[in-house]
Amino acid sequence: MASRGKWTSSIGFILAAAGSAIGIGNIWRFPYMTGKYGGAVFLFVYLAAVVLLGMPVMIAEIAMGRATGKNPVGAFRELRPKSQWKLVGYLGVIAGLMILSYYSLISGWTLGYFFKTLAGQLRGATTEATPAVFAAFSANVGLQLLLLGAFIFLTAWIVSRGISGGIEKACKVLMPVLVVIMLVLLGRALTLPGAGKGLEFYLKPDFSKLSPQMVIDAMGQAFFSLSLGMGAMITYGSYLKKDESIPRSTAWVAGLDTVTAVMAGFIIFPALAAYGMSPAGGHPLVFHILPVIFDRMPLGTAFGLLFFLLLGVAALASTISLLEVVAAYCIDELKWNRSKAVWLAGGLSFLLGIPSVLSFAGVPCFRRLPLVGVSFFEMMDFVWGTLALSVGALFISIFAGFVWKKSAAFREIGWGTKGARLGSVWLFSVRYLCPLLIAATLAMLFVG
Ligand code: PHE
Repeated sequence: MASRGKWTSSIGFILAAAGSAIGIGNIWRFPYMTGKYGGAVFLFVYLAAVVLLGMPVMIAEIAMGRATGKNPVGAFRELRPKSQWKLVGYLGVIAGLMILSYYSLISGWTLGYFFKTLAGQLRGATTEATPAVFAAFSANVGLQLLLLGAFIFLTAWIVSRGISGGIEKACKVLMPVLVVIMLVLLGRALTLPGAGKGLEFYLKPDFSKLSPQMVIDAMGQAFFSLSLGMGAMITYGSYLKKDESIPRSTAWVAGLDTVTAVMAGFIIFPALAAYGMSPAGGHPLVFHILPVIFDRMPLGTAFGLLFFLLLGVAALASTISLLEVVAAYCIDELKWNRSKAVWLAGGLSFLLGIPSVLSFAGVPCFRRLPLVGVSFFEMMDFVWGTLALSVGALFISIFAGFVWKKSAAFREIGWGTKGARLGSVWLFSVRYLCPLLIAATLAMLFVG
């Protein structure tokens, strides 16, 4: 198989890019963060960030990728030779490796819960019991290493097979099925007695809950969920054909991703309220509540199995894109062959994931890092999943707005006389809105 390929169809690109975007970021990270930060306020800041910051940056990333046909480092280098801008690309490649390490661990949890459901271990799940079940599960180091390794292995195996062969096919079939299952869960959650309180929590904002840390996390969550700020969309854009519309693809990918996240909230919060669980359950939140939902619905075991399996597939489409960034860099810049790139990066990521595994076991120094007071895993997620992506997005927007020639960018995106108005909105966003808002939000780190 050739090292570089093209998406065979526009729907192939949209599905694969949506596959990258939709993952446990939507179903695990978004609900627990919304719960932690008091519900509706977080939702609204997050939605604003998706539209104001996410969509312009996504257009920029896809266009940079397609214009150069390169990985993030190569794309910056080609558009601005002999400059330090390639460092933004390097930051993206490193972020890809880092995020892959702990993201695969959480992805492994979905497999673990699939097998737990299969073995009947979640039957009769109660709100009192599920936290202890999760705690025991995540503290089992051998099992966690196995799940982490299995997930990275699966990712590497698919990525090693190349672009249209692996990624596209898997996304095409399975993503829609996940959405159907979520619709069933949605119907179930919304009709539970007591669901209204959860809806209120999710939709009625209490602005006194606004805080600097919350705004930073909501913005980071927007970039994380849309797979932005580290060049995943640069890399995927590099496989996009010239005649596809970038703004249209962006609207689809951002739309599908956001709908999935919002839908997850509509499942989780009504159910939490109905079963009397706190929305502030932290990382394990969805693993606490989902078994309870499945246990008390008709055909719950079947739905549970299918749900955890497909969530695993959604996560896989995301880990594939994380690894693909690293692989594309090694192939283009270091001239490695695909297989060497993929297996070495995968192996490194596994090693980097080990301290995250230990964060959930009783290893005190990883569970609570000295000085910072959070676990190694939480530190990784904040530093790479929130900060690095936000910094990356900041520089990508500045680059697209000021460094990349306007005429070249517009030509790539397909804005000439037609689309000129949308073009000026985009240009204003990447030049002023995104840099100022992202920089101001990041600056709050030092006040809050
Ligand atoms: N967007 C993915 C999710 O929400 C995670 C991801 C982040 C994937 C960055 C690629 C790059 O699950």
